[in-house]
Parts: sequence; C-alpha cells; structure tokens
Amino acid sequence: MIVPSLSTLEKKQPVSARRSLSKLLSTDLDFHREASNYASHALHAFAAKFPPQLPRIFIEGLTHKGETVMDPMMGSGTAIVEAFLCGRRAVGFDIDPLALTICRVKTHPVDFLETTWAGKRVVNSAIKLLQRASRLEPAMRERFSPASLEFIDYWFGKQSQRELMALLLAIEREHLEQPLLDFLKVVFSSIIITKSGGVSLAYDLAHTRPHLLEGKPYKDAIKIFEARLAKSAALLSQLPSNGKHVEIQQHDCRQRLPLEEDSVQLIVTSPPYANAIDYMRAHKFSLVWFGEDIDGLSTLRSTYIGSEKTGVPNTPDLPSSVCRAVDKLKEVDSKKSRVLAKYFADMRLALGEMVRVLEPGRCCIVVVGPSTMRGQTIKTHELLSDIGNEVGFETLDIAERKLDRNRRMLPAAFRRNHNSQIESRMHEEYIIGFLKPLR
Ligand SMILES: C[S@@+](CC[C@H](N)C(=O)[O-])C[C@H]1O[C@@H](n2cnc3c(N)ncnc32)[C@H](O)[C@@H]1O
Repeated sequence: MIVPSLSTLEKKQPVSARRSLSKLLSTDLDFHREASNYASHALHAFAAKFPPQLPRIFIEGLTHKGETVMDPMMGSGTAIVEAFLCGRRAVGFDIDPLALTICRVKTHPVDFLETTWAGKRVVNSAIKLLQRASRLEPAMRERFSPASLEFIDYWFGKQSQRELMALLLAIEREHLEQPLLDFLKVVFSSIIITKSGGVSLAYDLAHTRPHLLEGKPYKDAIKIFEARLAKSAALLSQLPSNGKHVEIQQHDCRQRLPLEEDSVQLIVTSPPYANAIDYMRAHKFSLVWFGEDIDGLSTLRSTYIGSEKTGVPNTPDLPSSVCRAVDKLKEVDSKKSRVLAKYFADMRLALGEMVRVLEPGRCCIVVVGPSTMRGQTIKTHELLSDIGNEVGFETLDIAERKLDRNRRMLPAAFRRNHNSQIESRMHEEYIIGFLKPLR
C-alpha cells in the first residue's frame, strides 16, 4: 500500500470528494507492514489507537493544506498529529483528561537541550528526595484523599509509591511552564500505563483491563523515567514547528461542538466500540497521581460513550435496525440492552454534531468494529451507518480492514478465558465513508 505523497495534495483544484473517497475506501487499509512509531506517535500507550497511516491517507486524499480536519473523539490524537504533520488545521476534542494532555504534548515540539536539562534536574532531585523517604509518606497522606490512597496502596508497591511521589515532587519543584510541565507529566504517565508491565502492580493497563499480577517484578521508576525522558525528548524535538494550527479542547462530543456550521473540511474519528473499552479504568492509574480524585474520576467515567455505567437511554429517534438489535439483546439481558441503546443514542447525538459542522460535499470517516454481547454480534458499523443516514449523511461505502490486534492495542482475553466475548469481537473493523450531500 503506497500512501500518496504530500505533493499530490498541495494542488489547489477543488476536491471531488465522492470519487476520491470511493477510491480511498477500495485501497488496502490494513497497513500491517508499516511502522506506526514515527514522529510522536509512540509517546504514550493508548488503547485502540489508529495506525497513523489510516487517518493520513484520508487527510492527504480529501483535504488541502490549511483546511480543517476534526476528530471529536481524538483519544491520543493520532488523526490530530497526522493533520498537524500534513499542514492542516487540526481540531480535536475528547472528555478524557489524559487523552487531552497526551495529544497536546504530541503536537508540541520541544527544545531538546532545555527538556533534557530539566529532566536531569528532576531525576537528581527525585533521587535526593528518596534518600529522605520518611518524609514522602506524610506528603502523600496530605495530598491524596482516603479513596485515592486506598487505590494507590492496592495497585502500587510501597517502593514504587515512594519513587513516583519523589518524581512528582521533583517535577513540581521545578516550577515549569507549559508545555514542558505537560511533557514531564506524560513521560511520568508513560511509565505507569504501558503495554507490558509499567511500575504499578497491574498487568495489561494499555489494554484498559488491569488485573493484579502476583509477584510482578519490581521496576525502578526513576531509572525508567530517565530512559523514557531521553527517548521522548529526542522524538519531540524533531517535530515541525507549525503547532499553532492545533486546537485541542476538553469537550463531550454529544453536546454542541464549539464550531461553526459547515466549517470543517474533513472528520476522521474512531468512537469507542460498544461495550468494549473502559478508558478510565486504566487512565486513573496516572490521573490519581496528578491530583484527580478517584471518586470524581468514577463520575466522569459515566459520560464516556460506550460506558457500562450508563443512564437511561432516550431512544425515540433510533432507526428500526438499531431498535431490532437492542430488542434482540433484551430477550437475553435487559441491562446490556440498555447499555447498547445508550451507546447508539449517544452516537446519534455525536453524529448529528459532526454533520452540522462539516462543510457540504465533504467527508466524514468513522472507524469502528463489531461487538459481541451475550453471544450476539452487533454490527456496529452497519447500525452507525443507518444512524448517520438519518442525521443527514450519505454512506458512500463501508470498507473492511483486518486488525493487527496487538498494534491496535485492543483488549486481549485473559489467558484463562480464551473464548471471552472480548476475544471474539476483535478480528476486523470497518471504515464508514460518509459524505455530507451538497445542498
Ligand atoms: C477509540 S478511542 C480514539 C482513539 C484515537 N483514534 C487514537 O488514535 O488515539 C475513543 C475516544 O473517545 C473518547 N470519548 C468517549 N466518550 C466521549 C465523549 N462523550 N466525548 C468525547 N470523547 C469521548 C474516549 O475518551 C477515547 O479517547
């Protein structure tokens, strides 16, 4: 698969969206043999992130330089980074506080020397603080609520707690300004939320399915921080300096987006899968250290699309295909059917906003996979396509891509349960190519 070069895109003639989108959807979109760790993409683990080539091919093929690309559920910001690298104006929203910080850092070049010196000072100061470890525990008790302390005690060994607290205090003592402060926080978080291991006692954090691993070997948090810092500073210092075109904001995409009608030239997004990934379950492992209270984070969790913790769905406007899927699930599990109905009701609101802000004649790319709930396959892509058509999009086509599950970092089954529902839902995903018709 050859990604079209930038030069083909810089021509200023109008984009014939229909023809271009059809062509792009019929190309090979698997990207299994292509590196996904270039630029700032590998800065921090994030469940279900895109391979960067996926948003890039649509950004290059469907927009010109200077046009606006938006992702209303940007996660770690793969589409935003790609839009930024391609010289587009990148606009991203998410409700997840960690996603926002990661994406801000990934689109902000740093000065290599300044960053590494600040990092060295932090490491030296953390080592000194650790020598007076008896002061660290009272500092933790003062800072964290009882619920947060209980969480930290359960998931982090005593020595790791001391090291992380020492790093945190050392970062604060530097009195750094943004973006350097966020950069150090993301490096700090990246040693906790990792694909295999990290400094907590949890396993599988990057897949958002933490479980306590008995006898997990101790890892020196300060050493790992130092190593990651050097690597991350090197990556970010290579970024181009056109970051002024990146706008990132915490926003619930079910609510009215802070954008004018018809103001966006391309949307590329990947919503959560129905009932599959609980971001907060993993992200609180870092956020709790940044002072977010564990109880407050649980409240925020219920606002995530696809969350198990759901309110009563308001579903009068859902298409009959969606109602049939919900009713079928209700026959075996009424609670899960409410979760599913809420997911589609939420996605209807999100798609309604997407169609409002998109310029007529332009495209919206939605990448999503099917789910299995109580043994029933939910063809989320087909149902979202039906919802999209009701809110004003036209589905041009739905392409399939085979998943390299490890690279997309979707939840893996626990070893003892190979036939789990999660295992069976993650073999392929679909790319819905929507067009907003001309008026
Ligand atoms: C599949 S991830 C996106 C991954 C992203 N494409 C990447 O490459 O990192 C879905 C994202 O939707 C976000 N999300 C869930 N509910 C949301 C809501 N109500 N408003 C905005 N974002 C939401 C989650 O926080 C998560 O970051």
